[in-house]
Amino acid sequence: MDLLIDSANLEGIKKIYDIFPVEGVTTNPSILKAAGKEPLSQLKKIRAFIPHGAQLHVQTISKTAENIIKEAEFILGELGDNTYIKIPVFDQGIKAMKILSSRGVNTTATAIYTPMQGFIAGKAGAKYVAPYVNRLDNIGFDGVEVAKNIHDMLERHHLNTKVLAASFKNTQQVLTLCEYGIGSITAAPDVLEQLINHQITSIAIDDFNKDFASLVGEGKTMLDLGKTK
Ligand code: E4P
Repeated sequence: MDLLIDSANLEGIKKIYDIFPVEGVTTNPSILKAAGKEPLSQLKKIRAFIPHGAQLHVQTISKTAENIIKEAEFILGELGDNTYIKIPVFDQGIKAMKILSSRGVNTTATAIYTPMQGFIAGKAGAKYVAPYVNRLDNIGFDGVEVAKNIHDMLERHHLNTKVLAASFKNTQQVLTLCEYGIGSITAAPDVLEQLINHQITSIAIDDFNKDFASLVGEGKTMLDLGKTK
């Protein structure tokens, strides 16, 4: 399962890249607003920081297919290879995805709340479809189930489209989709960090370190043992 960082905060992105094996960054207009910087220059900074092969997903704003396509061309011109054009699922968005995909542009269908939206976006050639897991949970639906349904339908119909599950608030949602074999997820840095944190692991590490210190001295590591030779 590919992991992406759902953030436009460069410090947060750097922190995650330093530790985690991740495939790229996803953004949307609200995420850019939260970063509080001029969007294009911030996206360029992110692009310059992440590896060349990493994905950067950038959302269009326009309401007509014609203008979405113009925005996509502009975004690709500014941000280059491995940029995925995120397009919300509505009639003009689907039309734009169909045209852009036929031209070989990578698109990500976003704001997906129903399995059929995901399926139609897949048929329109989107490389990724992004169901909003936690937002679905918040309105009384089962976001994880919706993501699984979309995954199954895409596979059953042999569409060349992966689920990029989005909108996570806890690690359980991520775990369930990982167990299921979902293609990729994007989550905010705080959720990604929680994927590896466990209080009992920290206690175990402290115990190991105390035992080693009582054997060879405080603050010592295996490297210090070589020095006594
Ligand atoms: C990513 O593609 C989505 O835009 C994002 O995950 C939505 O997350 P939110 O529900 O936390 O705003």
